[in-house]
Amino acid sequence: MKIDKQEFIASLGGPSAVDSMNPEAQADAIEDFMMKRLNQHKFGLALKGLNEPGVALDASGKYPTMAEIEAQIETRDYRRGVGNLFLSHTGSVPKLPPMPARPTLADYFKQRFVFTGNHVLQSANLAMKNGLSEEIVLACLLHDTVQELIKVDHGWWSAQLYEPYVSEKVAFAIRYHQALRFYEDKAHGYEYPEIYRMFFGEDYKPEPYIEAAYQMVRNHKWYFETRMVTVNDLYSFEPGVNPQLEEFTDIIGRHFKQPKEGLGYDNSPVAHMWRSIATPDRPL
Ligand SMILES: [Fe+2]
Ligand SMILES: [Fe+2]
Repeated sequence: MKIDKQEFIASLGGPSAVDSMNPEAQADAIEDFMMKRLNQHKFGLALKGLNEPGVALDASGKYPTMAEIEAQIETRDYRRGVGNLFLSHTGSVPKLPPMPARPTLADYFKQRFVFTGNHVLQSANLAMKNGLSEEIVLACLLHDTVQELIKVDHGWWSAQLYEPYVSEKVAFAIRYHQALRFYEDKAHGYEYPEIYRMFFGEDYKPEPYIEAAYQMVRNHKWYFETRMVTVNDLYSFEPGVNPQLEEFTDIIGRHFKQPKEGLGYDNSPVAHMWRSIATPDRPL
């Protein structure tokens, strides 16, 4: 999917606003922008829905200053790291269909992964077309779904959500795809994205915890698997490509340990995370 740079910058509030964001926030914003774009194609949402409340261009087309953007934090009624399920994308949040008593991964895909589903299906589809292993395809299929719950540090959150149900290798690839996004590896077909250079600056250095994670993963036996999540991630934002979950049923069956009590009800250390996705309208 091609990004209109001007539109992207405007959606964040202009060049000074982009400069004022930390690099991780910028990377997340790009991913978020592309996901919204995908969903826009999927649901036919109005273009203005891309702009977050309070960061739209003013009537004269002038970008806000950094100070104005900074001030806008306090005008927003949400924080930008909040999960998609907890945000209104159209003015109000939709009523969610109830989940079955013993929900499966497929149930979550169909009823809760509304904003991330298409993106991860496209990633998994691309990984499959590229002839990658079933574990890599699964990692691609799951890598961003936790963003329904929370976006901040989504690689770590996502790996945690899936750890009890997938191999250590799959969880590893999911966790560290977040860090590898910033580091080029031409031998594996991953170039530092041009759009990152534009937004982060030529001299950009990722935060120390990201750099440390990258250094560790680079020399790890599962580097390839992790790298492949980023390779199939960045180039998978294609409108019009609409892979279905059913295409991955066999891979899920072989590599995802579906608990018989249902996700959220198996007393695992992450069951509460699944319940929070299942029932985000509970007040406490
Ligand atoms: Fe991601
Ligand atoms: Fe992604």
